[in-house]
Amino acid sequence: MNKVLYALDGSIFTVGDTILEYSYLLAAIFFVIGLKLQSQPGTARKGNIWAGGGMLLAMITTLLLHKNSDGQYISLANASVVISVIIFGSIIGSVVARKVKMTAMPQLVSFFNATGGAASGLVAVMEFYNPDNKAILVTLLGLVIGSLTFSGSMIAYGKLDGKIGDIFSPVMKYINIAMLLVLAGLVIFLLMAGFDFPYRNVLAVVLLFLALLYGVSFVMPIGGADMPVVISLLNSFSGIAAALAGFIYNNQAMILGGILVGAAGSILTILMCRAMNRSLLNVLVGAFGGGGAGPEGKDIGAIKEISLSDAAVLLSYSQKVVIIPGYGLAAAQAQHICSDLDNLLTDNGVEVKYAIHPVAGRMPGHMNVLLAEADVSYDKLIAMEDINPEMPNTDVAVVIGANDVVNPAAYDDPSSPIYGMPIINAHEAHNIIVMKRGMGKGYAAIENYLFYNDKTRMLFGNAKESLQKLVTEIKTL
Ligand code: TAP
Repeated sequence: MNKVLYALDGSIFTVGDTILEYSYLLAAIFFVIGLKLQSQPGTARKGNIWAGGGMLLAMITTLLLHKNSDGQYISLANASVVISVIIFGSIIGSVVARKVKMTAMPQLVSFFNATGGAASGLVAVMEFYNPDNKAILVTLLGLVIGSLTFSGSMIAYGKLDGKIGDIFSPVMKYINIAMLLVLAGLVIFLLMAGFDFPYRNVLAVVLLFLALLYGVSFVMPIGGADMPVVISLLNSFSGIAAALAGFIYNNQAMILGGILVGAAGSILTILMCRAMNRSLLNVLVGAFGGGGAGPEGKDIGAIKEISLSDAAVLLSYSQKVVIIPGYGLAAAQAQHICSDLDNLLTDNGVEVKYAIHPVAGRMPGHMNVLLAEADVSYDKLIAMEDINPEMPNTDVAVVIGANDVVNPAAYDDPSSPIYGMPIINAHEAHNIIVMKRGMGKGYAAIENYLFYNDKTRMLFGNAKESLQKLVTEIKTL
């Protein structure tokens, strides 16, 4: 392993160094294959295994072959600490991931983003005090991005879990911009000041706390329906922070892994912004305001209910039914019985499709994953832009636990926080059946005009129970 070789430029390296570099290249190839496979529900599980395999390879070769600047391998004592922590973390991680409910997945993702940011931030803090560290700009950026990713993701976790509310104040926009400018100023100052500056350590602590505070105040005001954008943005920040930490150690695997997460997160952020018909700037600084006027006080009609038998007859004698799933379907774990209803209607000659809104549920692809779990054929899941032109020819739109993604306020209430967001046009179907427990609001906490529409009939109850009863009723027809 220690056999000395010479590169073309005369620099010295060993067989071990070569193996290490090639293992990083191989790990990066595994990451890319993993990402590719993760883009389809059918192969996503395999994708995780490939990407995890790449990470395992990079970790093993780093432990065995990485050398510090003095040419020393990792000591046995340090390696034992690292291995113990990896084992301990893996046990906690796998227990938590197995136990977490599908509906709490977004919180878990936010928590993972927070830990990724914290890890990169800690690396930057340690290396800030290392006199041999020449990559000070990268270190300072890693410290800022890692810290704000940690605090911002913890706030996002609290919001998704319903533990923290939004704080709307137009003043926060200016406070955030001011904080960002001070952060940038401090980074430049610390970069110029050099190691001998007497207040270097104090300023680094100020920078750390300001970055943590900025993470909190940047996520706090972001309103209900805009959360998907923030989550994917924080995900991309955690990747960028990891890549910066990789630059500090000149570790190719960390740089490549971080860049891949950062790039994937950025693409997702752009897609989420498009899905919400918002610009990123608008989400980050413009998401202030109340909950919209809503239908109160207007002549909006009344809520009308439908009986199980009427719903069963209406669905059975339709030609075309579009099911619009939302967060409530996941909360009720009603995907299997929903698939049973679909099969029953299809067997009776009804054409059944699912309308998939990009931000339905609480995480990107939530409805696709949920319905794939119930073996619903992927060809039946139709994206919003493709299903909307079909809505005027649909006999019944069955809204199951969806609310914000079918709220017409997005089209006709400029004061609504979801105004401008594209929705599934359930209101254009000939009949609308809405299944939910009561008149509870959606994630954006606003009223929904659709429920008062003349064509809408409510089927109140837990989605799973209502669907079970409906399936039984249809079978008796
Ligand atoms: P929501 O607007 O959140 O509405 C869900 C509805 O489901 C509620 O109105 C609730 O009404 C009903 N519900 C809850 N539990 C139920 C159960 N057990 N049985 C039947 N109904 C139940 O859902 P959506 O339409 O899917 O919209 C998603 C929202 O979340 C959007 O605003 C989106 O921006 C936001 N968001 C999305 C993501 C991602 S990436 N997808 C991430 C964070 C936030 P009742 O209480 O009356 O039953």
